[in-house]
Amino acid sequence: MANALPEKKLLITGVSGLLGNNLAYYFRDKYEVLGLYNSNSVTIRGIRTEQCDMCNPDSIQNSIHGFDPSIIIHCASLANVDECEKDKSHARDINVLATRSLVECIADKDIKLIYISTDSVYDGVKGDFSETDTVNPLNYYGRSKYEGELEVGKKENSLVFRTNIFGWNIQDKESIGEWILNKLESNQQINGFSDAFFSSIYTLEFARAIDIAIRKDISGIYNCGTTDSCSKYEFAKKFADCFGFDRNLVSPISVDDFSFTARRGKTLNLNVTRLQEKINYKLPTIDQSIESFYRDFKCGLPETLKQKQYSITESPGFISYGRQRIDEHDIQAVIDVLHSDRITQGPKIAEFEKALAAYCGARYAVAVNSGTSALHIACLAAGMKQGDEVITSPNTFVASSNCAVYCSAHPVFGDISPETYNILPSEIEKKITGQTRAVIPVHFAGQSCAMDAIHTIVRNKEKKFNTRIFIIEDGCHALGSSYRDKKVGSCFYSDMTVMSFHPVKHITTGEGGVVLTNDEALYKRLIRFRSHGITSTPGDFIYPDNAYPPSALTDRSAVNPWYYEQVDLGYNYRITDIQCALGLSQFTKLPFFQKRRREIVNRYNRAFQDNDCIHPPLESRECDSNFHLYVLLIDFDSIGIERARFMSELQRQGIQTQVHYIPVHTQPYYRINFGTDWGHCPNAEAYYQKCLSIPLYPSMTDADADKVIREILRIVKQ
Ligand SMILES: Cc1ncc(COP(=O)(O)O)c(C=O)c1O
Repeated sequence: MANALPEKKLLITGVSGLLGNNLAYYFRDKYEVLGLYNSNSVTIRGIRTEQCDMCNPDSIQNSIHGFDPSIIIHCASLANVDECEKDKSHARDINVLATRSLVECIADKDIKLIYISTDSVYDGVKGDFSETDTVNPLNYYGRSKYEGELEVGKKENSLVFRTNIFGWNIQDKESIGEWILNKLESNQQINGFSDAFFSSIYTLEFARAIDIAIRKDISGIYNCGTTDSCSKYEFAKKFADCFGFDRNLVSPISVDDFSFTARRGKTLNLNVTRLQEKINYKLPTIDQSIESFYRDFKCGLPETLKQKQYSITESPGFISYGRQRIDEHDIQAVIDVLHSDRITQGPKIAEFEKALAAYCGARYAVAVNSGTSALHIACLAAGMKQGDEVITSPNTFVASSNCAVYCSAHPVFGDISPETYNILPSEIEKKITGQTRAVIPVHFAGQSCAMDAIHTIVRNKEKKFNTRIFIIEDGCHALGSSYRDKKVGSCFYSDMTVMSFHPVKHITTGEGGVVLTNDEALYKRLIRFRSHGITSTPGDFIYPDNAYPPSALTDRSAVNPWYYEQVDLGYNYRITDIQCALGLSQFTKLPFFQKRRREIVNRYNRAFQDNDCIHPPLESRECDSNFHLYVLLIDFDSIGIERARFMSELQRQGIQTQVHYIPVHTQPYYRINFGTDWGHCPNAEAYYQKCLSIPLYPSMTDADADKVIREILRIVKQ
């Protein structure tokens, strides 16, 4: 097949670093590549990249589980030698513990693990180090990388390269080669250590050696560098010669004249005989390596790497208020359906519904093409019609009340609690009349409404008015949330619960939604309203006589194969198998998403808890919220800045915020058609003056969250 993906899958950690991105570039046509980055989001044409916090075993597990690689090249590391010395704990987290987690995660998997180590594991005294020489790092960077090697050694058949590299970066950060060139190009004098020797290899030459090593499936520890060595002073002079700059700009200097935080070895040149023999390949000399670097420069590689499609963008530049997290597994799941016979009305829909129902603890689930459609068919299934009244919260997206209006019912708004921002049970109690057909409590931001109280009130009012009042939970913000240890969606306190799978929600199907219920009769109606009001179930036929061949006067076992009946006025609200395959794949990651959301929420809570002008959300003890939104109440008057300016100031720093919600009863459509107005729900209106939803989504890094915190506190203090 022309467009078939390469069979093997290669996962590269540290893809935003010099080696990681060069390897991704080199291997992009040979393997299906997934690159993992932490805080620097990177896009590389031809490969998938995704965020992964290497210090979080769940995050690693998730990426590996989702992609299912056959090879991993583990480049992620803290490589700044002085930073490692200053913050040993951070260096250990990344260089040792993250490596341990990675190894543990793939312990029983048939995955080839390749670890990029360093020449700094040697002490740089005797030089010409071979792999059997004693390891004796002079600094913490070398020590932590060696400890990383020991972790990797626990994985069968693993491969370790000790190396020193230079190359073209895709980041604005300069690699050593680029630093030398930039200085020489602008005629600046540079110093080179004349007493520090190494055998630094060009990244793409190193990539070639790795490529061969993979194909030959070698394992063990190998030095990889150039076949000869030179001092860093000579290295810079060679650069100047090769690129045609003035070599006199380079001056010799001694390492001893410099006071680095970390000690450094002086003679770190590597003996590469073992690798050359093992892979039967001649590694380049320093001159050849610099020439390759130069040739790639002439062929425009630096520009290619730095072009937009290869470029790195600081992820904080793109901190939206919410967004989906799609990985390779999700994409593959969709591709699989596209290759299958049924892209809609096939088996994935039932599979998705079954998974949702089982997770929430409901008997039935009916998946549809949006949360709005789900609300609409829930109202239809409740028999909603003109003259009926529906009570809901004003602090919601317009869909929560529009669904009633679609059925020609009359929307009624009950005010919210100033603490939870959810509709008050007392308001529901006050507003139920003999015409009330449904109550739609909205679990705002993920926190459940007081369902026990609402349930009791509604059932008592049913008795009082001798009528049926349906409770339809709008759980569009609350997949994964619990109330009194029951999952939202269990319908323990309601007739139906609705969820949305819009991309900002907990899991996504692009667009999509579901209605959950324990009631078989409602379930059957929901199924019909989802698809034109049509049924093919003989027991539901209104004119069964038309359903059978004339010859089958008494035998009613074989319905005419084409026969169906439209028994209601339904809609085409069907969801596709393509969407449900995505939903199923997303669903496997819901626990990870939930955990990550909670981690960010905790970070925000800690940061904002002691500020007089900022109020973090209150969490009711009865609820365990899977936060869809994190809403701050900010006293804009006290800090003397309007919300619009506050938001645009954050926007300028690359942080998107939102306002959830403009009270629905103040929307012109409702004011004009239903006579609602400002003043009708004072709590919701007061809340609206102060609320601001700040970014929250699972692929946010801690650095992203810290940036959000920093910028908000900065503006507040101004
Ligand atoms: C509370 C609430 N209800 C209903 C909906 C409608 O869901 P959808 O966008 O999937 O139609 C949304 C969507 O944002 C929502 O937030």
